[in-house]
Amino acid sequence: MDTVMKVGIGTPLSRVDGLEKVTGRAKYAAEYEVPDMLHGVAVPSAIARGRIAAIDDRAARQVPGVVEVLTHENRPREAWLDRSWKDELKIPGEPFRALGDDRVLFAGQPVALVLAESFEAARHAASLLDIRYEEEAHNIDFQVSLAEKFEPSKKRSSFHPPKNRGDAEAAFAEAPLKLEGEYHLATEHHNPMEMHATTLHWHGDGKITVYDKTQGPQGVQAYLASAFGFSKSDVRVVNAYVGGAFGSGLRPQWQVQLATLAAKHMQRSVRVVMTRQQMFTHVHRPECRMSVRLGADVEGRLTSVICDATTSTSRFEDNMEDIVIWGMMNYASPNAAGSYSIAPRDTYTSADMRAPGAATGMTLFEIAMDEMAYKAGVDPLEFRLLNYSEVDAMNGTPFTSKALREAYREGAARFGWDRRSPEPRSMREGRELVGWGVATGMWDAMFSKTSASAKLSANGHLEVACATSDIGTGTYTVLTLVAADTLGLPPEQITARLGDSSLPTAPVEGGSWAAASSGAAVQLACQSVAKKLLRAADKVEGRPLNGAHSLDDVVFEGGRMLLKSDPTRSVGIVQAMQAAELPVIEEEETASGGISGMVSQMLKSRNTHSAIFCEVRVDEELGQVRVTRIVNAVAAGRIINPKTARSQILGGVVMGMGMALHEETLADRKLGRWMNHNLAEYHVPAHADVEQIDVIFVDEPDPEVTPLGVKGVGEIGIIGTAAAIANAIFHATGKRIRSLPITIDKLID
Ligand code: MOS
Repeated sequence: MDTVMKVGIGTPLSRVDGLEKVTGRAKYAAEYEVPDMLHGVAVPSAIARGRIAAIDDRAARQVPGVVEVLTHENRPREAWLDRSWKDELKIPGEPFRALGDDRVLFAGQPVALVLAESFEAARHAASLLDIRYEEEAHNIDFQVSLAEKFEPSKKRSSFHPPKNRGDAEAAFAEAPLKLEGEYHLATEHHNPMEMHATTLHWHGDGKITVYDKTQGPQGVQAYLASAFGFSKSDVRVVNAYVGGAFGSGLRPQWQVQLATLAAKHMQRSVRVVMTRQQMFTHVHRPECRMSVRLGADVEGRLTSVICDATTSTSRFEDNMEDIVIWGMMNYASPNAAGSYSIAPRDTYTSADMRAPGAATGMTLFEIAMDEMAYKAGVDPLEFRLLNYSEVDAMNGTPFTSKALREAYREGAARFGWDRRSPEPRSMREGRELVGWGVATGMWDAMFSKTSASAKLSANGHLEVACATSDIGTGTYTVLTLVAADTLGLPPEQITARLGDSSLPTAPVEGGSWAAASSGAAVQLACQSVAKKLLRAADKVEGRPLNGAHSLDDVVFEGGRMLLKSDPTRSVGIVQAMQAAELPVIEEEETASGGISGMVSQMLKSRNTHSAIFCEVRVDEELGQVRVTRIVNAVAAGRIINPKTARSQILGGVVMGMGMALHEETLADRKLGRWMNHNLAEYHVPAHADVEQIDVIFVDEPDPEVTPLGVKGVGEIGIIGTAAAIANAIFHATGKRIRSLPITIDKLID
């Protein structure tokens, strides 16, 4: 090749922040050094429900270096109305306020904050508090809480109940083939590498800079202003690097409340860091029970789909998820019905965790689908194709695109599905039973109004900026590629700035919408810069681009603008800026769906899909399961960076392995606490658990779904993966386990 390959959308670029991260130069919330800083250590409640009767802090205050013990009795004034404490997610209920009053709502709730000149002094003193409680009856057992379950009120939230069609009950009653089962997912806790932490810099002039572990710096900025009485312009929130979050950073967590209270009280800088154990005292994926009833004709065509699910929430907030809609949307049954309720327990409020709703509902449904395939005597992949829906079967709308058929085909070919022997327990190697399973994944392709700026300097350096966060997903790299693509600059000449509330407006990073949304904003901002460059090119002697009236007439490549009709005529970007005497070009733009986007949202469904193929090997004597091979074929529209996108799917698949085999937070009914609140006993997959994972992105051109044709890949990798594993375990062993995770005890009988 004689030309340099253009680096842009579609180039597998390594992380631009990789060097910063592996050298430790990338700073996380707890690592910022600010002058004259106090260390705050939170004291957890020993009871799950009741009141604080008395706190004796005399011994704690004797510890050298301790300057204050903050409790509900001496904390500074804060906003009174619940409304002032609502965050971007606007969960119905009474938002939690750390040290708000004497009530205890969950075990581990921070009931005091010890402030000291050193972390060690604060931590030691925190162990010396003598707290007396008035204990009330509590329950954190999901099975018990089901007795109190209720349907969420439509008035109080944006929750949309599932849309029923046909007469699912009658169709089920008449169906010659029937399946009825109850499925369950255990409580899971978010365990990102980085624990929640806040370093708050008290500047002394009324302004604060808050280095916070969050998925949305502007969300935290607005929240702190509203709840603690700051003017928004006095609060700057920075989260330049986030060590994973998976949803735990969507809402401001209690450590940022405590740091802010303490800083206000002491008029000093404060750092509060959660321990790994304390990571189990706030958000978690709700526990779920779903009953599924499927009816089919003798050939295996679904005639009825009925799903009823309940998920756990706290007693003070109603966290809701879309659990039952996935099976109703994805398959062509003429009759379908769903119902959803939530059950309160005395824990912190459950929360979004990677693909909230779908990771649970679609996964459990796909186990039921597998069971039905065996009942119908149809190959599990064939069974899904037999019930394939070209449209969104629940809403009756077409998709902007749905390349799930291609995903099934390409995934099956790569996996070698046609060599599968249909009978359970029919494949064996040595002392291990071999099983092959398949499942489907489905997630929303969302877009959220986002702004970005682009600033080009006369030395050819470009800086793009947006308040969105890179929570480990690769946003820095993706936005660098979009900018490189639009202005034809090498990535080395581009800097992306993210994770700072002072940057152009962006929503919290979540829901797999960041690449599509901030990508579109960066492209628009770069196009505005490009238009100015084109005008500047007019000033170049001889006007080589004479005849170029719009961006359509030129290409940006290798730092130059080339005339499309005659590429020998070109102007360098730096050359144009110098000729026009422009030291800098800076533009800000907002990408929004607009009215047509809103109309199109209603007329068409926007989703990603995936087909997951899995091989397990099960040692029958030990009940040990190895996931030896997974192929995940993903249809997610246009892929900006195949390398970081693949990493997102790999991470999602590994998390799906955790859901299938390891992750489970166990309730101590008597104490009302989570028992295994550490990484020794709360198991996540380790390297030794991860063998071969293949990721395929099928071709899915979709200019309609979002401005860049991007659908997002942060979450689709986990959805359905645990079902593929559970289904492979059934194929290997003949044992159908309907409750995740499938731990060894469930396989040995
Ligand atoms: Mo995700 S659960 O939207 O961070």
